[in-house]
Amino acid sequence: MKELIIILDFGSQYSQLIARRVREKNVYSLIVPYNTSISKIKKLNPKGIILSGGPASVYEKGAPKCDKKILELNIPILGICYGMHLLTQFLGGKVQHSEEREYGQAEIQIDHKVSLLTGIPNNNKVWMSHGDKVEKLPKDFKIIAHTANSPVAIMANLKKNYYALQFHPEVIHTDKGEKIIENFLYKICNCTKSWTMKSFIQEEIEKIRKTVGKDKVICGLSGGVDSSVTAILLHKAIGEQLTCIFVNNGLLRKNEAQQVINIFSKHFGDNLKYVDAEKRFLTKLKGITDPERKRKIIGTEFIRVFEKASQEVGKDIKYLAQGTLYPDVIESVSPHKGPSVTIKSHHNVGGLPEDMKFKLIEPLKELFKDEVRAAGRELGIDEEILMRQPFPGPGLAVRLLGEITKKRLDVLREADAIAREELKKCKCYKDIWQSFVVLLPVKAVGVMGDKRTYENVVSLRAVSSTDGMTADWVKIPYQTLGKISNRIINEVKGINRVCYDISSKPPGTIEWE
Ligand code: XMP
Repeated sequence: MKELIIILDFGSQYSQLIARRVREKNVYSLIVPYNTSISKIKKLNPKGIILSGGPASVYEKGAPKCDKKILELNIPILGICYGMHLLTQFLGGKVQHSEEREYGQAEIQIDHKVSLLTGIPNNNKVWMSHGDKVEKLPKDFKIIAHTANSPVAIMANLKKNYYALQFHPEVIHTDKGEKIIENFLYKICNCTKSWTMKSFIQEEIEKIRKTVGKDKVICGLSGGVDSSVTAILLHKAIGEQLTCIFVNNGLLRKNEAQQVINIFSKHFGDNLKYVDAEKRFLTKLKGITDPERKRKIIGTEFIRVFEKASQEVGKDIKYLAQGTLYPDVIESVSPHKGPSVTIKSHHNVGGLPEDMKFKLIEPLKELFKDEVRAAGRELGIDEEILMRQPFPGPGLAVRLLGEITKKRLDVLREADAIAREELKKCKCYKDIWQSFVVLLPVKAVGVMGDKRTYENVVSLRAVSSTDGMTADWVKIPYQTLGKISNRIINEVKGINRVCYDISSKPPGTIEWE
């Protein structure tokens, strides 16, 4: 059985980060809502529990509390910030509420050398972000470290292996924070480095084989990272029992359909079903300019096309494989609204209908994006596929403002290809999360040669982001901007003006529609 650390989520914006830090140390971790039942926790059989931070105050009405019986499990506990306060309250200590919230960096002074702090020097910088503090220690706890403003920056009950931190070790503003987490995992929970991509893949392959048996599976392939890794993993597990369906909706980037076919027919041969549905999509989209209607039409058509294609593959297909990732399924917890307020069900293949009667196989549903990339590497998938930027399901439809026609799509595709080519050469490329060209529904006057032109305007968009939730525009060097603009205006017939979008998200969004 694999070693597991669970993170009880009290609504901290950093809960995912804690899970990441644990996994970076090759220990498997899961985030579970704070009110997960004790029987479920027991069943998960964790080697240790981390209580996350959270915005609430422990004395506040309705403050989130986990089952106190976690204290009877006799396993190590690490409380972070709110988690520390809750532990204090559970064990008879006292937390001091303060309206003045203390944010920012502080330096810890170590009072007791303990294994949690192996390799952590005195004056280590740590990041605080909660005003509440421990005023009275719970019984059998002692102060391990303090800061100028927090007499109890770290406390512990060494016998019980309970540790609690007033600061956040998971954020980069805490120097050597990952070392503190590492010490908790290896020295206190006695975890070994059992979580590796190799072991993950091996386990998933066995699981898939056991589930599927001799049945058939279909997988919607978009050529994006998630669906590609899902498909290759499935193929490794069940070979010919897998058929992949790749739908070309006519809204893909320049040469994209061919690239996807080239790459994946190598892997899947005849078991890659290519559906050229360009005409069908473009006919349905004719005359439509409203962004939401575009999205709905594309979503519905996708389902129809996929259903038809899957029936052609065979009537006896039992399973559908999808590239759902962990951030899509984590139940976000907001202490003020109760648990599970948002469960995103954004699926890669574009929201397939529930009545499709397939059973789902989602082998990546416990992985973060960069872990998916690592899994892909382990499976030998081309770096070009693995490093692809996210591409929205509705494709170029949301980057082409106004009516969608093949002619306008081709103009956009050409301009977009030039921008991509030039940006890839720029040293700024490593900072880019997504970059693309948007075709605007306006025309501008220009002069080319001796002639007046009246042509389309495009906007270049390039943003940096860690998760797509917030984003900033990338400071592309003028030289690259100039080159992109010159090349687009000179090489793409129908464009005489290039703008650069310098809006951040929020208040803008990454896509224009
Ligand atoms: P926005 O434009 O909302 O985009 O800032 C955030 C991220 O989501 C992607 N996106 C989509 N992905 N279907 C998708 O599969 C969609 O309808 C969709 N709309 C936006 C966008 O590319 C960015 O990565």
